[in-house]
This record gives sequence, C-alpha cells and structure tokens, in this order.
Amino acid sequence: MEESRFAKRLQNMGGNAIRELLKVTQQPDVISFAGGNPAPDTFPAKQLGEIAQEVLAGDRNILQYGTTEGYAPLKEFIAGWVGDIGIKTSAANVLITSGSQQGIDLLGKAMLNPGDKVALEDPTYLAALQIFRTYQGAFVTVPSDADGVLLEELEEVIAREKPVLVYLVPTFQNPTGITLNLERRKKLAEMVARYSVVTIEDDPYGRLRYSGEALPAIKSFDQNGEVVYLGSFSKLISPGLRVGFAIATPEILQKMVIGKQSTDVHTSNLSQVMIYEFCKRGLLEPHLEESKAKYARKLALMTEKLSLFPDNIKWTSPEGGLFIWGELPETMDATKLFAAALEEKVAFVPGTSFYAGGGHLNTIRLNFSNASEEMIREGMHRLARVYAKFAE
Ligand SMILES: Cc1ncc(COP(=O)(O)O)c(C=O)c1O
Repeated sequence: MEESRFAKRLQNMGGNAIRELLKVTQQPDVISFAGGNPAPDTFPAKQLGEIAQEVLAGDRNILQYGTTEGYAPLKEFIAGWVGDIGIKTSAANVLITSGSQQGIDLLGKAMLNPGDKVALEDPTYLAALQIFRTYQGAFVTVPSDADGVLLEELEEVIAREKPVLVYLVPTFQNPTGITLNLERRKKLAEMVARYSVVTIEDDPYGRLRYSGEALPAIKSFDQNGEVVYLGSFSKLISPGLRVGFAIATPEILQKMVIGKQSTDVHTSNLSQVMIYEFCKRGLLEPHLEESKAKYARKLALMTEKLSLFPDNIKWTSPEGGLFIWGELPETMDATKLFAAALEEKVAFVPGTSFYAGGGHLNTIRLNFSNASEEMIREGMHRLARVYAKFAE
C-alpha cells in the first residue's frame, strides 16, 4: 500500500531500531550485550506459578474485566511502597499501567498536540523517542554530565522553547547508566514547578542499586504536581507480566485513564494480582536482594573486562541498572563495529539510535544483566579482539 494512505503520524516512521537489531542478535550462538532484558534465571517462576494457581482457584472474578485505574489492593501497596523513595501519596494518585512504557504513551496521548515540544536528555530511551514521534512531538535536547542532566541548559531550553513535557530517566539511565545527583533533583523539582511544565520521571531501574547511596525520587520534591512518576515491575519481577504504574495528580491521572480506556481497557487482572500477592507475601525484598547480588557481580565482571579495551574509550561507571555506555574515539563508527562484532558472534547496541537527532556514531551501549558471567567473560574477550582489529 502507498505510504501516503497511512496516517501522517506513522508515515515514513521506522520501527524501533533496537527491536529490529535484536532479531539478528538473538541467534543462539551470539553472545548478546544488546538487549535490555533481565536475566531469566532471576524470574521467580515457581512462586508466581503457585500464586497464579491459588488466585484462580480462589476467585473466578479475576478472569472478569477489571477497572481501568487498576487493582485496588495493588494501588494501595504501591502508594505505601514508594514512601521509601520519599514519595508521599495515596492510592487515588496511582494508576496501574501495562508497563512504564504505557505510562509514557498515555502522557504523550494526554499532553501532546502535533508540533508540541518535548525536552529530553540526549541520549535518551529510544522507545520514548518513538512514542513522542507518534504523537508528532518535536524534540529539544539537553546534555548531561556524569551527575545527570545539566540544569542550566535545561532551564534555558524550558524558557526558550516552552516544551509541553520534560522526559527524564534520572536513575541508572537507559542508555548511559548515569544518575542525577541529589542537589539537582531538588533544583529540578523547583524549576519545573516555577515554569509549570509536566515532567516525566521514568524510573524502571531505581531499585536495582548495587553500590552507593539510595536517592529520593524527583517526585518526592514535587511542589505543585508537575512531576509524574512512572514505575515498573518489569526489571524487578518480570517484564512479560506487563505491570507498571504512574503516580500523578488526579487531573493528570484522569486524562491518562481516559487514554487507557481506549488503548487496552485495563492492565491484565491476573498479572496485577500476581504482582500484588508476590509483594504482599513479603517475597519482593528477598527476591530483589538475590537479583541485585547477581547483577552486581555481572557489572563488576564487565567493568573489569573493560580494561581489555584501549584507554581512549570513555566508559560510564553506573552504580545500578542494566547498562554501561561507551564513547569511542570520535572517528570510530560503532555501526560498522557492530557488523564486525556480529561476525564474531558478539553483539551490543550502537548508540546513535538513542539520540533524538541521530549522529554520535562513536557511542555504544552494553547490557550486563542478560548474559551469564561465563558469557560476559567470553563475550568481552571477543569484543575486545574485534575492536583491536577494527581500530587498527
Ligand atoms: C527508561 C525505560 N523506560 C521504560 C521502559 C519500559 O519498561 P516496561 O517494561 O515497564 O514498559 C524501559 C525498558 O527498557 C526503559 O528502559
């Protein structure tokens, strides 16, 4: 069919570059540092299976339609749980979403008219770019340093461009692993209140901290309800269950609910109850401790193996999350390195797709959560060999 027959919002829009690339990297003999998947051996399959059986045997209504806002006991649990990152809220301010991804989408749907501006970190989460493009938003980008997004630059952008949304991944960012420091969190909350700009704090990784001090959410410093916090159980329990949540003012949540009604009616009841029961039975914390111990070892191993590469590559040193980010010398093209690496059966993601305006061909993202320690060891040796040849 001719492209012009499709809606303008999807005309000439490519698919998610990483999802396309993962099709190639998921061959069984490829060691992949490309995706952002949790390790399957962390999934609490047995406990979730028992919970699902009990729940289904106990109440058939779980197979009935549910409310768009979400399963009330789960909303109640989440409202209390986020207290430890400083967020004081109640169940009325929580909406259950089908992953944090849907939270971003519903905010795009609720807030953006074609041409409206979205301010975001450069680089940022690729799928968020895709969502905002679908709503025909325009990007204004803000650089970051090792302590997160630069506030003076952000303020300039907000004052000059008047974005309708600010989108940030302030903790163990995807793709860089960088975390916004405490002082900037406080100032940022004050700034977005002063300019009245809705600010998305997308936080799927915050609870995967392996070292350093836990930080309060930006939302905990929110002054007038401009900050919308998005959380997710994808990286903590299971991404396949598709359970995340948004915390926002009733006005914003109401628009998101209307958007969600037409998208998927509600998030799967069974998934919500399984997540709720897992948490309520006290299984989440010990589970997280176990997963974090595994990921911490993998991060340490991958970090150690970075010494196999020349020291003119700039790597980030994340204290949590799932990714390490590398800046190769400027003349290097990581898309070509990717092709060479794939021939040696090792994969990563070239960083260019994470930039709103493309470019930055010399950047790469490495995921350390999905491969086993043995695979990380072998894969990093392979990648270093490919790189040495490539850099000749
Ligand atoms: C920054 C960021 N936001 C949102 C998501 C989507 O996660 P979910 O599975 O909760 O939809 C991801 C997943 O990789 C992510 O990295």
